[in-house]
Amino acid sequence: MAREFIVPGQIINGTGALDMAESALAQLGKKAMIVTDKVMIELGNCEKVENALKNQGIEYMVYSGITGEPTDKMVEEGLALYKAQNCDFLVALGGGSPIDAMKAIASLAAHGGDIADYMGKEISVEMPPIVAIPTTAGTGSEATQFTIITDTRKDVKMLLKGKVLIPRLAVIDPQFTMTAPPKITAATGLDALCHAIEAYTSRKSQEMSDTFALSAVKRIFQYLPKAFHNGQDEAARVQMSVAALEAGIAFNNASVTLIHGMSRPIGALFHVAHGLSNAMLMKECLSFALEGAYERFAALGRAVGAAGMEDSSQIAGEKFLAAVIALTEELETPTLEEYGISKEVFFQAIPKMAQDAMTSGSPQNTLREVTQEDIEQMYKNLW
Ligand SMILES: [Fe+2]
Repeated sequence: MAREFIVPGQIINGTGALDMAESALAQLGKKAMIVTDKVMIELGNCEKVENALKNQGIEYMVYSGITGEPTDKMVEEGLALYKAQNCDFLVALGGGSPIDAMKAIASLAAHGGDIADYMGKEISVEMPPIVAIPTTAGTGSEATQFTIITDTRKDVKMLLKGKVLIPRLAVIDPQFTMTAPPKITAATGLDALCHAIEAYTSRKSQEMSDTFALSAVKRIFQYLPKAFHNGQDEAARVQMSVAALEAGIAFNNASVTLIHGMSRPIGALFHVAHGLSNAMLMKECLSFALEGAYERFAALGRAVGAAGMEDSSQIAGEKFLAAVIALTEELETPTLEEYGISKEVFFQAIPKMAQDAMTSGSPQNTLREVTQEDIEQMYKNLW
């Protein structure tokens, strides 16, 4: 069966990436809207991007209203500014939130409308050029055709999709990830690990996505603990930036599965950051998925050195699972209870969460058949 494999138009990666990207930025338009958050301004990261634009004589304005994971309201606000200021392209600087918000703003730039109108549809509208400069090594949004926007009226995290949402230019410069604190490094790094594992064990996996997924998993096992324990370890930061990009490319072409499907409803209802809710779910979801895919998990176990060729697929898969659990513990992943969520409120929400998870379509990509009842049970098992 023929398969499509899509990546960003241009990737500039490594130390000095932003400097190298300047001339590429100059090709994209006359006035940029930088989509970012206040922390990026305080850290001086936004100024670096502003300088890159100034050096090329490109006008710009800064929209720093991304105060958390993006909502329909932030998108509306950004869109109004984009139009009022006559911008003609967008540059997102930050974690997944500004990048996702930028994609949504850009998709409404030409024809307006409401971002919720695109739920469940392929976005194929005319788009201004979009540039992603990630400052965390995790979401992979710089390499994907997806954006997650919260519909504040329905309390649902909408997964929106369309090839036009893949950035024209992705600038992965490790100078920006050096400032991420350990908790963010852990949550975003584990998000990338979920992308890679889910892509590798997805029904939609393909040879090309497997290559990127396997490489990402190996790199993350080797370098995420180092970046977590010592944020100034530049080599580890560089490797994690590459891993997050690889994992993004992998799931862009193979989709995610159970963890992401079950994670979004927890994020929407309990406001747990995306990477963290994934991390909380890894043990439960991967234990479930393992039973339908021993060989795929065994390959991952052997790739990271947790299992050997002498181990059967089942043993090697189980060893990989144990290694993942050990990593989440080393990175001090809290439980829902430790995070401060009420068990009673959580249990009341389980039917809606399980339904929203199934509606997203992601759980169905898991190699093992999964029902809504299975998902309800997995949510309960988190306690
Ligand atoms: Fe993710």
